Amino acid sequence: MLGNLKPQAPDKILALMGEYRADPRQGKIDLGVGVYKDATGHTPIMRAVLEAEKRMLETETTKTYAGLAGEPDFQKAMGDMILGAGYKAQTTASLATVGGTGAIRQALELARMANPDLRVFVSDPTWPNHVSIMNFMGLPIVNYRYFDNATRAVDFDAMKADISAAKKGDVVLLHGCCHNPTGANLTLEQWTEVATILEANGATPLIDLAYQGFGDGLEEDAAGTRLIADRIPEVLIAASCSKNFGIYRERTGILLALCADTATRDLAQGAMAFLNRQTYSFPPFHGAKIVATVLNDAGLRADWQAELEEVRGGMLRLREQLARELRDLSGSDRFDFIAAHRGMFSRLGATPEQVAKMRDEFAIYMVGDSRLNIAGLNDQTVPVLARAIIEAGV
Ligand code: LMR
Repeated sequence: MLGNLKPQAPDKILALMGEYRADPRQGKIDLGVGVYKDATGHTPIMRAVLEAEKRMLETETTKTYAGLAGEPDFQKAMGDMILGAGYKAQTTASLATVGGTGAIRQALELARMANPDLRVFVSDPTWPNHVSIMNFMGLPIVNYRYFDNATRAVDFDAMKADISAAKKGDVVLLHGCCHNPTGANLTLEQWTEVATILEANGATPLIDLAYQGFGDGLEEDAAGTRLIADRIPEVLIAASCSKNFGIYRERTGILLALCADTATRDLAQGAMAFLNRQTYSFPPFHGAKIVATVLNDAGLRADWQAELEEVRGGMLRLREQLARELRDLSGSDRFDFIAAHRGMFSRLGATPEQVAKMRDEFAIYMVGDSRLNIAGLNDQTVPVLARAIIEAGV
């Protein structure tokens, strides 16, 4: 039977991790997978996370099963963090998931249970695994234009025109902040216009919020999501704790379904718990408990937020340094978009040949579409990258 399987193309981002590891060259630079690294190239455990784990070790007395949809302390703390304290918990269904990817998958499963004919509107480009998951599920995808390759900014007129074509029963996937892979984000005014379009056509927004705290700040990065939540009666939000808590391997995420009334919320909550049961039964507990412990303790929370701000500030400084180096080397301001982008990523706009040249001649690894992970840099490697970008002819 298993011999009938067709070979699967490896995920491009994960394959790049393997290629980087196998490269014996000294001084190689990894700007591939979206993992935060400090100046030494290490992905640290955040201070508050370590402390939360210590406390858990001291106080936990059992490893028996916990909630099928997650634990209330995690759900509540995440609802507050994403939507703001005092969000409408009575009409919000919550599901702890296996990371942000699990939340995306369960959101799409939920939407398809509610409407077997749904189409999903997806930004062009988007995180490749969005597309891969939808293809695997057999969901029809409609691309909406998003990124202007010339300016490396959002092509908002094109986006508006394309998402206007969505209708009730469709899902429009939006990146809440720190757009992956481009780094180009909507302004609050643009979010307002998106809300007006979705109000008019009745499509359901699905917001992927994987980088809250990595762009303009914890509150600022949730502003677009909150605006949509205030205006649209039904909203799906898939959030990840991988990046902002640095707990990648603990697989911690949440799906929120904002509903128009409590009866719909109860239906959605039941369907979501059912989906967990059908796919993996209980969601991972450990990471969710870390997050709940940090968010529900004033001291740990303050320390976590301070460290998150250090991480965010470090990435911003690297962006500015890279834009400055490139301004000097190119004698132009055509790379200033790097300082304007937010989050871990920027799409450079290099051709596949230029990306290959940077890898072959300079041992610099970035995703083939020229997405680079800013956090893979430090102040010594920024000039190396800047030189490579210019010598590759970008
Ligand atoms: C990325 O885009 O690099 C991250 O979201 C990690 C992943 O799973 O692809």
